[in-house]
Amino acid sequence: MGNRTMDPSFDSAAKLYDNEFTFSEIGKLQRDRVYFWLNKINFFKKPKRVFEVNCGTGYDAKLFTERGHQVTATDGSEKMLEVAQKRNPELDIYQRKFIDISIDDNIGKSEAVFSNFGGLNCLSEEQLLCFINETAAQQKVGDLLISVIMPNHCFIADLFHFLTGKFNQIRRRNREEFLEVNVNGESIRTYYHHPATVSKLLYSNYKVLLKKPIAIFLPPSYTELFFKRNKWALKGLYLLERIFGNLSFLSSKADHYIIVAERK
Ligand SMILES: C[S@@+](CC[C@H](N)C(=O)[O-])C[C@H]1O[C@@H](n2cnc3c(N)ncnc32)[C@H](O)[C@@H]1O
Repeated sequence: MGNRTMDPSFDSAAKLYDNEFTFSEIGKLQRDRVYFWLNKINFFKKPKRVFEVNCGTGYDAKLFTERGHQVTATDGSEKMLEVAQKRNPELDIYQRKFIDISIDDNIGKSEAVFSNFGGLNCLSEEQLLCFINETAAQQKVGDLLISVIMPNHCFIADLFHFLTGKFNQIRRRNREEFLEVNVNGESIRTYYHHPATVSKLLYSNYKVLLKKPIAIFLPPSYTELFFKRNKWALKGLYLLERIFGNLSFLSSKADHYIIVAERK
């Protein structure tokens, strides 16, 4: 899959990930927005077999299972998988890196492939295209590929950096190639993908059913401390999110966006 020069590991993030993201006030509200859109597409109406990539600590796997789906959860990081398995002792959970997706039969047995919160931002555009094509090769007509991805511009992060005087952080995602992001001491290459680019990569095999911003007004999770001290501000931003969060064109300016594609 493309020219992968390094193999990023989230192992060192596994221990703190739930505290710092999953159960943070911002993380919970951002995930709520993902579920808002999953409900809108009737994702939970009928039980499905779901193949999850980059499952992290297995929180979505647990919520999906509780809603009746049969989940196979995978991730590239062994330590993340340990937490995920502890959270979901009964579930089929194993290591699967994006690079090896073509050898996984379970994709063809599922009705949906799910990737939440930026796992696919570890892939360059070229690698993302391989991932999409290798997934498509196994999916059947009507199957879903649901991804939550970070775009290369985040309005609310820029505003936050402007208001707090961190001018050198403004437009930090907007670069030709990748940004080295420090994840608990480990440097992770992060590639930001414009939603129009992802739509283009999907085009030959998928029809895009929905593209919506996740956190256009809700801030990124690294601002958690600030918003813990200013709860009223987070409440206000969540209200704005609920009002304006259905405007598809804002996907390219949010912290993340959800893109739901159906195999043609
Ligand atoms: C930000 S976390 C998201 C975790 C989870 N989906 C969630 O909603 O909280 C990104 C995840 O992508 C995984 N990841 C990164 N590169 C990967 C790769 N090449 N193959 C598979 N998983 C990878 C990491 O191990 C990490 O668990």
